[in-house]
Formats: sequence, structure tokens, C-alpha cells
Amino acid sequence: MKKLLITGGARLSGTVRIHGAKNSVLPVLAACCLCTSPCVLHNCPDIEDVRTALAILESLGCKARREGSTLCIDASGLSKFRVEKRLAGKMRSSILFLGALLARCGKAELALPGGCPLGERPIDLHVKSLSKLGARFSFEKGILQAAWRERSDGDVFLPRPSVGATENLLLACALMNGTVTLHGAAREPEITDLIGFLRAAGADIRGAGSGDITIRGVKKLHGATYTILPDRIETATYLCMAAGCGGDVALRRCDGRLLAPVIGCLREAGCEIRSVGSEIALKSSGKLTAVSPVTTAPYPGFPTDAQALLMAAVLRAKGESVFQETVFERRFLHVPELQKLGADIVLSGKTARVRGVAHLHGAMLRAEDLRGAAALITAGLLAEGESEVLGLSHLARGYENLEQNLKNLGAAIKSVDIPAPFVYNT
Ligand code: EPZ
Repeated sequence: MKKLLITGGARLSGTVRIHGAKNSVLPVLAACCLCTSPCVLHNCPDIEDVRTALAILESLGCKARREGSTLCIDASGLSKFRVEKRLAGKMRSSILFLGALLARCGKAELALPGGCPLGERPIDLHVKSLSKLGARFSFEKGILQAAWRERSDGDVFLPRPSVGATENLLLACALMNGTVTLHGAAREPEITDLIGFLRAAGADIRGAGSGDITIRGVKKLHGATYTILPDRIETATYLCMAAGCGGDVALRRCDGRLLAPVIGCLREAGCEIRSVGSEIALKSSGKLTAVSPVTTAPYPGFPTDAQALLMAAVLRAKGESVFQETVFERRFLHVPELQKLGADIVLSGKTARVRGVAHLHGAMLRAEDLRGAAALITAGLLAEGESEVLGLSHLARGYENLEQNLKNLGAAIKSVDIPAPFVYNT
């Protein structure tokens, strides 16, 4: 087990190459189950959640091979329809094998998904909407069992734009006899990317990027070669780090158009940002001003995944920044940890008020979720003296090469082994 040691105070300068999006590649890997000939996916990050998705594919009888950032998946031999607890419990995206296996095998058995503890994270919308289309569910001994009884098509209404439920519906309906229209679908770029992959494999889906998506089922999907879109939250992570610390960074192979609300806030805080084509350049003096109230919302609103990151960036900003979290019930897990550094944050229900302080001091911090972990590292980089960050298993699920990238930018950061008697909850 490892922890990170950070000595704050360095400015960050240099270049970072952004990886493919975690939240795109995971549904696309589930979608590979639908394809009866091999798929080639470029720009796939080498992170723990992707390794878990590959282990699930292999446990189902698929072949998976990595060559650099390219994954080759052959699902022609898929012969099982059960996702075991030891794999399903490792990440939220295991639930996407529900739609994928229903489409390919007509039935699916899954242990409940894991992932970041951001609240209850129910799957009622997945189950209700698939039930409306003729799937029948039972839940026994911790295993969700699903099978088509009588398939129907028509309209499905999602009462809230759930990313996962939209993805499961796309996967379940891509192979069918009939047409399904989703109303109230999520509009995240990662959904558009999943649709891009499914279309490349022969699916007939219209309305990507809108709340109304029409899926005309087809009989078969073939293999496809596809490039995963850049990770907008990894991009936001480096932007917020450099904004808070001060510095001059260039991010390559990213897409600033997917991050307009975050870039808008960082500009308001005083950063100079140039976003052209696949590159974003940010200059920051490190002396930021508070931002206008930030309310998280489904895309194209301010992403909940960037809330903790921006909060960490403005801990020393002049004035008060207010954050309202509307997507998840428990997405302020980083706040008590940030307070250990001397941050002035008042938490009340869904709202966190951050009053900038002149100095933060080092402390021992424990991450409880993926983006919270990146926020604690950001805050450690801003603080005077040494900080320790534990709970790195969360970070490994979603970031490739973060420590090395930060070292390359000039940060004083290193991972060290935690001596065995002190290994707990890491
Ligand atoms: C996806 O989670 C992402 N995960 C999350 O990123 C992201 O924060 C979230 O979308 C919102 O953008 C992946 O793509 C793997 P939702 P997901 O279904 O699909 C409620 C990260 O850090 N809800 O849109 O789980 C739910 O509880 C992760 O990379 C129901 O009530 O998000 C939440 O409050 C964390 N019933 C809200 O909807 C349901 O059946 C949004 O959830 C489903 C969801």
C-alpha cells in the first residue's frame, strides 16, 4: 500500500498529454459484448477501472489484449451471462453489463455495483425503464437476475437524466426488433461517444447529444475500430491544479469545448486560458479571486466530477466561493479533509461556502472517493509544508500517471510504501 507525500508551494509548468475518458471507455467496453467480431479501441487509459472491465469481459468468455493505449476485444466467444461479485463490486460501471448481456444473451446476472460512495446511488431507473421494455427482474442472495419476458418497444421516459441508465438502455436496445425512443436521456459527451461506437459497429441510433434518443434495433453488430474521446475531468484536474498553484501549463490531446463551465470559472478566478483545437494553455499567478456561485448539474451544466477540484483550487482565493451540489447526496467527502489544511469551509446541507485563506498548512489526509482524492492532492500542492494523502486506491481507478505528470510539471510529490502495521483502509 502506498501514500503520497507532497511538499506544497511549487508552481506548475510544462505539458501534459490527456488520456482517453474513463467514463467513455467503460461503457464502450461493455458495448463490445454486443459485437460478434473483434473491436479495436484506441486512446484507452490504463487505469484500475479499465482493468476491472477487461477482467469482467474475460470472465464472460471474451478475449482482451492491450497494446499501448489500444485495446483489442473479441467477444465472439462470449459464453456466460453472470458478472461475479468480486468484479462487480469494484466499480459502478459493472452495472452496464446488465444492458449489454440482456442484448447479447437475453439474460443477465450481476452482483450489485461498487464505485465511489457518493450517496445511495440506486439503480431503480435502470430497472424500471428496462422493465417497461419487457425485462423481468429478481434479486436473490445479492445477485440481480434479469431476462426478457416479452420485449416491447415504444417510448421510455427517464425522470432524471441518469448517465448509467441512459447507457444501459442504449446497450439493451441496440440489438432488437423494433424502435425505442428515450426521453429525458443524459446528454454527457461520454454518451455521445458510446453512441458513436455503437453506430460504428452498425447500430441505428439518432439524437446523440440531445435528451431524445431514438434507437432502431438491428439484428447484429459487427466489430469496429474507434478512438475514445479525451477525458474532460482529467483535463479539469490539471487545469485546477495549475490554477491554484500558479504556473503555465499546456494540455495536449484534450477538448476545451467539453469543459466550458469549468474554464469559465477559472477565467473568472483570474487565469488566462487559451483553448484551441485539441490543446488548452493556462497561465495563473496563483493569486485567484473567488468565483460566482457554482451549482453542479447534468451536462452541459457544471460537472459534479469537477466540484471538488475547483473547490481545492480556490481555497486561497480572495473572497467567498459558494458550491451547491445537486447531483449526488454525499459529494462533499473532501470537505473535512480540506479543513485539516486550514481551509475555511462552512458546510450546510447541499451547500459549501469557501472563504479564501492566506495560508494553508500541510496535514495528513485520507481520500474517500476518486475526484476527492485528486482535490486533496491539489490542496496539498497549495499548502505550505508537507502533506500526506492516503486512500490512493480511489485515485488508481481513474487517473493514469498522475504522480509522474505532476513531477514533470515541477511538483514535489512522491509515493512511498506505508509500513505494514499502518496499512488500514487505504
Ligand atoms: C456517472 O455516474 C459517472 N460514472 C460519474 O462519474 C458522474 O459523476 C455521474 O455519471 C454524473 O455525471 C461513470 O460514468 C462510470 P447517474 P452514474 O446515473 O451513471 C441518481 C467519476 O468520478 N440515480 O447520472 O452513476 C444517482 O443516485 C464518477 O468519474 C437514481 O436515483 O450517475 C445520482 O444522484 C463518479 N437512480 C444521480 O441520479 C438511478 O437508477 C445521477 O446519477 C440512477 C441514478
